[in-house]
Formats: sequence, structure tokens, C-alpha cells
Amino acid sequence: MGNSSDEILGRVSHLEDGDSSRDIYNDWSDNYDSHLIEEFGYISPEIAAQTLSDEIEASDVAIIDYGCGTGLVGQALNQQGFVTIDGIDISPGMLEQARAKQVYRHLVCGDLTTRIALDDAIYDAATCIGSMGAGHVGAQHIPELLRPLRADGLFVIIMNGAYYISGGFEPAFRQLENDGLWRIRKLEEFNYMTQLERPGWLLVAEKQQ
Ligand SMILES: C[S@@+](CC[C@H](N)C(=O)[O-])C[C@H]1O[C@@H](n2cnc3c(N)ncnc32)[C@H](O)[C@@H]1O
Repeated sequence: MGNSSDEILGRVSHLEDGDSSRDIYNDWSDNYDSHLIEEFGYISPEIAAQTLSDEIEASDVAIIDYGCGTGLVGQALNQQGFVTIDGIDISPGMLEQARAKQVYRHLVCGDLTTRIALDDAIYDAATCIGSMGAGHVGAQHIPELLRPLRADGLFVIIMNGAYYISGGFEPAFRQLENDGLWRIRKLEEFNYMTQLERPGWLLVAEKQQ
């Protein structure tokens, strides 16, 4: 199996629920940043960090970065002045790259489709950027992702537009609001790669009591 940017993007795009993304991302970890940034012009980390920075004061805020990968989101958050950032990812290879960036307080290897090893209500904000969709994390896992957030805490999600439709995320997001788990503050479409046609969705939601 090759490791060029096209081949690996193809593998990731064809993941199905139940597939292990751990192996694919372990294979990709060394080249992920250069592929995503230099070849594809990936801008989701900056959009997510700017979005949070527009909503909350950076000082004294604890953030959990779900599916943190190589740490691009942590890095972008840190550039916005956030300093207390924890990350979780299923891939040890990706986590090794994230650790090297030295922007996370704690990094944990874990599967976000199971119960997460985090206490209740300990974070002011959460990010899940590029980590939702087939073979990744599903909408059904969001209630568990909300558990470590404080009431009124913000959840920022950016995800691929094709998965958003095929995975039924739009109705699932609305259902979570109807069920009183969160209040949606922003839900908008944008292209998240400057060098590719990649429609995606940005959601900002506030956890309810
Ligand atoms: C496209 S990358 C996004 C990484 C980072 N958030 C970014 O924006 O660059 C998706 C990440 O989700 C992680 N991931 C996929 N399924 C996961 C799961 N079930 N539990 C935890 N992490 C998962 C992968 O290992 C990978 O690092």
C-alpha cells in the first residue's frame, strides 16, 4: 500500500464504519502535516481556533481536542493564546507527532467510540476537527463527547460535507438540540482546503444543563 497523498486520501475517504482508522493514520502520521498543509491547503485548524477565540477569552480556559491527530488544532489554538489543551486520538503515530509540537498539556491514546477516560464537566470547550464520519467518530458518540464539558461549554466540530450528508449528521445535530443536549449557535458550510474542492461543515454548539 503506497503512501502518496492521493493514495492515502483515497484510503481515508473510503473508510467505512467499523474499519480501523488507527492503522491508516499510523501509516500517514509522518507525512500528514506536509500533505494536508502544503499539498491540500488544509485550513480547518485555523478556522476552529479563530472560531473559539471569537467566542471565549483564551485565558483560564481548558480545551479538549477530540481526534487531535498530529496536533494541528492544538497548534492553531495555541497561536490564538489558548494554553490549557488536552488531546485524545486512537493513533499512537499521530499522537507522537502531536507530542513533538509541545502545545498539549496531556495527550491520551483512546477510542472515542467507547466511553472516554475523562471525568465529567472538566472542560470549557471541545474541538473535533476532521475526526467525524465513516470509520471515524459518529453522531451517536456525541453525548459521550459532551460529558467532559461543563454546562454552557462550547463544542466546535468541523467535518467533511459528504459524510455530513451520507452519515445523517444534519438531522442528528438537530435531534441533539431537540433532546436538550446542546444549543446550536452556528452551522455553516465552507471549503476547508484551499487547493482542493472539499466542502465541509462548521458547527458551534453550547452544551445545555
Ligand atoms: C483527519 S484526522 C484529523 C486530525 C486533526 N484533528 C486535524 O484536524 O488535523 C482524523 C483523526 O481522527 C482520529 N480518529 C479516527 N477515529 C478515531 C476514534 N474512534 N477515536 C479516536 N480518534 C480517532 C485519527 O487517528 C486521526 O488522527
